[in-house]
Amino acid sequence: MRKPVVAANWKMNGSLELCEHFARTLVRPENADVWIFPTALHLGSLTDLFRESDIGTGAQNVWCELDGAFTGEVSANMVATLGAELALVGHSERRAMFGDSDEVVARKFKKISDAGLVPVLCVGETLEERESDLAFEAVQRQLSAVEEAWDHPVYSHQAIAYEPVWAIGTGKAATAEIAQEMQALIRDHIDRRSTGESQAVRILYGGSVKATNASELIAQKDIDGFLVGGASLDVDEFNQICEAVNS
Ligand code: 13P
Repeated sequence: MRKPVVAANWKMNGSLELCEHFARTLVRPENADVWIFPTALHLGSLTDLFRESDIGTGAQNVWCELDGAFTGEVSANMVATLGAELALVGHSERRAMFGDSDEVVARKFKKISDAGLVPVLCVGETLEERESDLAFEAVQRQLSAVEEAWDHPVYSHQAIAYEPVWAIGTGKAATAEIAQEMQALIRDHIDRRSTGESQAVRILYGGSVKATNASELIAQKDIDGFLVGGASLDVDEFNQICEAVNS
């Protein structure tokens, strides 16, 4: 069976103090993996703090080249050198605010994978797409863009995070039914595009996950964990989410 994951995306929040606070007070769930994505600035410190543990750390973003004149960017190799193991790619905030097109996401995905990191591919529809019955088309387009840019199996060594844009930071999580329905469609899609990897790939849900809705969401068959934004900045709440996933 798929081991669940509880992942923290701190976005442009956090501090060295928060990293140290997490290292002291995070309660490691026995039956779930925990991944933390701090800012690039704090990634080295956080990775050092968790070095003796099996908590995974990763970057929220990397550029799609390995080095060169790309002021302000970091590469997947640099992330790997720190000892981090993962990188998010295609987060909707990057797609909407920083011009990460499907093509750029696909290029970043490949660099992350080539660097030996686990890519966590974020996909999700906007409210407009959902209201126009185009939610799955949007998600499928995002998945296909990565598949088409990559000529060997893409699903064997990655995770997917389904994050409907309308649920991110709004306090309005998808209902368990809506999240399950989309995540099952994503798994079916993977089944059609891969050779038997669909039951192994972990599909996380993200968007206003809190201690109060985690249990209902994790009970769904195709929800293998969470990518938590705002609630992951509070270690007590994050511990409660971990507990809900663990039990
Ligand atoms: P919130 O949990 O704050 O809605 O953010 C979700 C998210 O974007 C995680 O990547």
